[in-house]
Amino acid sequence: MTKIMFVCLGNICRSPMAEFVFKKMLADKGLQTEFFVCSSATSTEEIGNPVYPPARRELKKHSISCEEKKAVQLKKSDYDKYDFFICMDDSNVRNTLRIFGDDKKHKVTKLLQWAGSEKSVADPWYTGNFEVTYNDIVTGCTAIIEKLMK
Ligand code: 4NP
Repeated sequence: MTKIMFVCLGNICRSPMAEFVFKKMLADKGLQTEFFVCSSATSTEEIGNPVYPPARRELKKHSISCEEKKAVQLKKSDYDKYDFFICMDDSNVRNTLRIFGDDKKHKVTKLLQWAGSEKSVADPWYTGNFEVTYNDIVTGCTAIIEKLMK
């Protein structure tokens, strides 16, 4: 089983969107049992909070539910429990590496790298556009499944 942790700053917009988009893709392909998937924050700002309502609405447009999700913080002890820590932007990567101290097993990546791009996932906290973020996430998640299921 491959264990994936999506990571962003607050765990209320981008990384939970990635978690639930990825889970939906797995369900549609009958691949749920091959993966364990979750998401977390590098900051403490939003811990315990549900997914931000506009992010929840964007997921709902695509028949994806994330009702049960509450923001949690990434912990140093998570490093050995997951195969991949997939961040949304460069500052998430820096903060993740700060929490872990190092990345000897090269587990930390940025989502769109999986699709061959150095771009970050659009941050809807600043753009207000959750659809662009959703599309970036679909691009990255599709590429992860293609790469890992080869
Ligand atoms: P996320 O969005 O990292 O995609 O969950 C944000 C959530 C909270 C803040 C920024 C981005 N904030 O500044 O509190």
